[in-house]
Amino acid sequence: MERIEAVLKENRRFEPPEEFRKRARIQSEAEYEALYRESLEDPEAFWGRVAEELHWFEPWTQVLEWNPPHARWFVNGKTNLSYNALDRHVATWRKNKAAIIWEGEPGEERVLTYHDLWREVQRFANALKQLGVGKGDRVTIYMPMIPETAIAMLACARIGAVHSVVFGGFSANALAERIKDAEAKLLITADGGYRRGRVVPLKAQADEALAETPSVEHVVVVRRTGEAVPMQPGRDHWYHELVESVPDHCPPEVMDAEDPLFILYTSGSTGKPKGVLHTTGGYMVYTYLTTKLVFDLKDEDTYWCTADVGWITGHSYIVYGPLVNGATTLMYEGAPNHPEPDRFWRIVDKYGVTIFYTAPTAIRAFMKWGEAWPRKHRLDSLRLLGTVGEPINPEAWLWYHQVIGQGRCPIVDTWWQTETGGIMITTLPGAHAAKPGFAGKPFFGVAPEIRDAEGNRVETPEEGGYLVLTRPWPSMLRTVWGDPERYRRQYWSQYPDAYFTGDGARRDADGYYLILGRVDDVLNVAGHRLGTMELESALVSHPDVAEAAVVGRPHPEKGEAIVAFVTLKSHARPSEALREALKAHVANTIGPIARPDEIRFAEALPKTRSGKIMRRLLRQIAAGETEIKGDTSTLEDREVVEQLKRGE
Ligand code: WTA
Repeated sequence: MERIEAVLKENRRFEPPEEFRKRARIQSEAEYEALYRESLEDPEAFWGRVAEELHWFEPWTQVLEWNPPHARWFVNGKTNLSYNALDRHVATWRKNKAAIIWEGEPGEERVLTYHDLWREVQRFANALKQLGVGKGDRVTIYMPMIPETAIAMLACARIGAVHSVVFGGFSANALAERIKDAEAKLLITADGGYRRGRVVPLKAQADEALAETPSVEHVVVVRRTGEAVPMQPGRDHWYHELVESVPDHCPPEVMDAEDPLFILYTSGSTGKPKGVLHTTGGYMVYTYLTTKLVFDLKDEDTYWCTADVGWITGHSYIVYGPLVNGATTLMYEGAPNHPEPDRFWRIVDKYGVTIFYTAPTAIRAFMKWGEAWPRKHRLDSLRLLGTVGEPINPEAWLWYHQVIGQGRCPIVDTWWQTETGGIMITTLPGAHAAKPGFAGKPFFGVAPEIRDAEGNRVETPEEGGYLVLTRPWPSMLRTVWGDPERYRRQYWSQYPDAYFTGDGARRDADGYYLILGRVDDVLNVAGHRLGTMELESALVSHPDVAEAAVVGRPHPEKGEAIVAFVTLKSHARPSEALREALKAHVANTIGPIARPDEIRFAEALPKTRSGKIMRRLLRQIAAGETEIKGDTSTLEDREVVEQLKRGE
């Protein structure tokens, strides 16, 4: 727990405004309490009722089968996610409602109605079938933020193929690693995408990755930028050519509730990213309900989540949750400060966005750019704000509330993870007061607890401990792709009876949770999860590096900055040029988000007598602390620490 930092105490409570509460889906704490109690006492009744709001080809015979750590939800139920996201709405007045409003970074606009999206998805589903993709096959999606990305995901869901979306900011090497692990049969990419006015050369990176991935038989390329890209005959196909010649009717594959829906890779405390596996029924039901209640979503809303579809937030709260609800979801391709720092506010104003969901790191950047930018635009359409991805400091919370929400909009601070599939801890905006810095209360069916290192429930939760979840929930990950043992070890071995989140948390007397951040070797840099071991293996793959240890240092905007301590092989000498080369090497190996902020050359790294690197010491040194706190009795060579502190 030593790395958990105290968070500023901010004791104010913000009650839901009366105007909001009166119209909210859940209007009081008592209503929440009653439903919450039912969700724990009778999960079958609770989740069965929610699932009945959606379409099933065949009903389930049992809501939950729990053989820890393996859960099956809606056992034997048959459904299809794309059917629930599209066909269900096309059969109603929503047929011509906007499903996706898209804006490209250069400024183009596209609106796809539910009917448009339904037809596009079916066409592309047929194109995938023609290329030999069927139920259970893996498809990797490496795309910019364009409607075809959502279309590709839904088309996979329609035919039962398992998608694995890889964030477009990852390098060729990281893409190759993920394609290989999933043994994907097909890759969907684009000629490029726009980011800060520049073209991200996705196809070029994909070609580099494909040199190492024999499993990929076909590549579908969406024309986005129009730049010339090499197309390999027989392997590469233009999206627009494929969909021209296929029928726009493709019946949905009947999927078992437990059939895999997607794999999404995320960093853990080992060197290799884990393929988190989500299945169909439980994920659908849970993201449906959380989107509806946490965002108080109504048919008249224009909902905008600013995440990238390459992360879980994009999967659950840009694509699946909103579309299963029949909502209008907005997608924006590019950077928040292109061409100027008011791009987001311009979009809110232009489309009349009512619900806005972003990350604390973005809010801190907006604060830095200044109030004048949002003040240039009408933000009156906004009625609810959300944050996700990292703890939000109370100053940023208050700024968001006052400047963007104009004191009028409730804020939901939503805690969850790639592994949880959906939001786990939050306030419900019409029911709960918000407390800046606190995520809030457990969502329905979620049973958090704060434990000590021995696995006991802590007596004083207000002082903090490890956050665990003691009950299965519908959208929990089912396994780590190809490595069931790692699933058990990673999440269910610290405590035999609970899911270990990897986060620290505190709980106050009102039952509100405050998330303290990761307690394992995972960094959270601008809301992106990065494993220290992944960064270290990237560094030691450079010919000059002997050993590396990576730690996080608190950073005012990004939350955490990446600091790498590096020892060199005997032929190499520290230099400014080498420092830059190492930063570039990591960015090339993983992606620009992984570029270290600081490289410190060291004679040696502090180790215990058994040879383990003492990261705790390095974290303190990186943060510039002069007094090293805590037990150093196991340190092998004290002089090493003195040298590092002196920066020699
Ligand atoms: C952190 C993102 C504090 C946490 C959905 C978690 C948060 C990790 C919050 C998961 C929040 C996410 N307050 N911390 N509201 N939301 N986190 O898998 O450390 O990219 O374990 O999922 O982000 O990151 P992931």
